[in-house]
Amino acid sequence: MIQNVGNHLRRGFASVFSSRTSQKSASRAEHNGAMADGEGYRNPTEVQMSQLVLPCHTNQHSELSVGQLLKWIDIAACLSAERHAGCPCVTASMDDIYFEHTISVGQVVNIKAKVNRAFNSSMEVGIQVVSEDMCSEKQWSVCKALATFVAHREISKVKLKQITPRTEEEKTEYSVAAERRRMRMVYEDTIKDLLANYVIQDDLGSRDCSSMVPAEKTRVESVELVVPSHANHQGNTFGGQIMAWMENVATIAASRLCCAQPTLKAIEMFHFRGPSQIGDRLVLKAIVNNAFKHSMEVGVRVDAYRQEAEIHRRHINSAFMTFVVLDADDQPQLLPWIRPQPGDGERRYREASARKKIRLDRKYIVSCKQTEVPLSVPWDPSNQVYLSYNNVSSLKMLVAKDNWVLSSETNQVRLYTLEDDKFLSFYMEMVVHVDAAQAFQLLSDLSRRPVWDKHYRSAELLQQVDEDDAIYHVISPPLGGETKPQDFVILASRRKPCDNGDPYVIALRSVMLPTHRETPEYRRGETLCSGFCLWREGDQLTKVSYYNQATTGFLNYLTTNVAGLSSEFCTTFKACEQFLLDNRNDLAPSLQTL
Ligand code: COA
Ligand code: ADP
Repeated sequence: MIQNVGNHLRRGFASVFSSRTSQKSASRAEHNGAMADGEGYRNPTEVQMSQLVLPCHTNQHSELSVGQLLKWIDIAACLSAERHAGCPCVTASMDDIYFEHTISVGQVVNIKAKVNRAFNSSMEVGIQVVSEDMCSEKQWSVCKALATFVAHREISKVKLKQITPRTEEEKTEYSVAAERRRMRMVYEDTIKDLLANYVIQDDLGSRDCSSMVPAEKTRVESVELVVPSHANHQGNTFGGQIMAWMENVATIAASRLCCAQPTLKAIEMFHFRGPSQIGDRLVLKAIVNNAFKHSMEVGVRVDAYRQEAEIHRRHINSAFMTFVVLDADDQPQLLPWIRPQPGDGERRYREASARKKIRLDRKYIVSCKQTEVPLSVPWDPSNQVYLSYNNVSSLKMLVAKDNWVLSSETNQVRLYTLEDDKFLSFYMEMVVHVDAAQAFQLLSDLSRRPVWDKHYRSAELLQQVDEDDAIYHVISPPLGGETKPQDFVILASRRKPCDNGDPYVIALRSVMLPTHRETPEYRRGETLCSGFCLWREGDQLTKVSYYNQATTGFLNYLTTNVAGLSSEFCTTFKACEQFLLDNRNDLAPSLQTL
């Protein structure tokens, strides 16, 4: 059941706002209040905002300032969160944002926000920004954003009601939101660990200092007084307002380096560490941390204090922004080298280089904006969190598709197929009299798979990355007419349910390990998206599904099974059932708590 698969990494965050396409799955009768006038199904948490860009909203290029856009995004997202929560909400964080287009004065900005998932007191809100030119009637996607809002009630901690996703897109977002939350919660620690453990090389010593711009020249300090117009009805400063002030000082710092008008390309995650209220003084400090060939990283820090207690400063936020300077043809211009201050400046200079690598990994593995990515992404400590995210979210997206077709049913094993533009995928499903947590434990240990899957000759554990992620070297017999056996280096990422109704997930994808490169002995096979979902159907009753996304190498084998010319899939899956039944009591004591 492993395969050669094609290239399919353009998923992840990039598909967040794919469309409101699968409207057919929404039952109208079920949605009181979820209807838009004559438009069909509309997500009940969806909020739309349209703004005409006026000169007062623009920057020095007569384009909409990112700060203003962030304010609108934050308000639309907050209103969507409050619509779901029914009580006041505050911005806890805003994930990375990449800006694809600028917006000119006279154009219209359309913002759509909806709650993807509610957890305990927090919610993930997805925001889509599209600009519209009224004269040409053209529209452009400007950016997509994901914000976390936390609901607050004075008397008690809020327990939010769950979101019920209806459409395929909503189901995908709902499912993947749990994985994104997991990544967000470890974000700061991940970055800290990487910065602490990474050997960051720089060429500071070898550069000609005379042609460098001292970083000190770019330092900015600015103070803001929070007045009622910056705050919500509870007196809390809007997150969007703080982000706008941060963007303002960052732009000044960037301009001082390049002596030109910079353009903001990307913002790294904003995390609001603590609240700020009307009457607070906010001190914003920014400096260019590093200038690369065509882009620079500006860091901004915000602290708050009350007039009566200036020494008690509260750290509100720190963020890093990437700027470029564009020429008349919109091409990024060369930037001058920067000379950091000894001490903190040099540390930030090195850390900015490391962050650049992390940012690229995150962008290409998580956001998956590229058109071509090698199937087996190289495994390294700096991208392991994102590869693990990608592994699980790819499987969840496949599971959430709503155009699966039942192809056959033999011996209570159902085979479903899905034909996409590029891929033929299948999943097999059966109900087994085994506890879901047991099945999860048994199936997530790939070294036991040769017992029931004859396509696994052996599976050796190479690296136990953490409690939930492990890398295996799998050897499988030659496939259809080949003489060489195949081998795979597979990352297995497992997840327990985040909520009632969520499945246990075991996601599998190929990775490239420097210690286990392709050898002449084996033909290197690759799998990009396969794995198990296990749903608890009752006590000692589990629905086991195995998913696989196939492309050319595996296609013949798959179509033979789908067409009923072979029953090998079914036989293998039945062997899996027997394995689970034979080992149903084979439990580590720790499992009882799963
Ligand atoms: N990103 C996303 N969500 C986060 C988060 C982060 N960096 N940090 C915490 N959360 C979530 C937690 O997962 C938890 O969600 P859950 O209840 O659904 O499980 C929720 O926030 C509360 O977490 P908890 O640990 O109880 O609280 P905390 O002490 O970490 O406080 C905030 C979290 C967001 C409430 C707090 O940091 C805060 O008040 N920040 C300022 C918010 C604000 O005022 N923003 C406007 C601009 S200043
Ligand atoms: P770190 O120093 O580890 O980067 P901080 O949260 O203290 O983390 O600061 C975030 C960023 O804000 C820094 O990287 C820097 O770019 C900017 N910054 C912090 N302090 C100052 C300051 N005193 N003057 C100018 N910019 C600052």
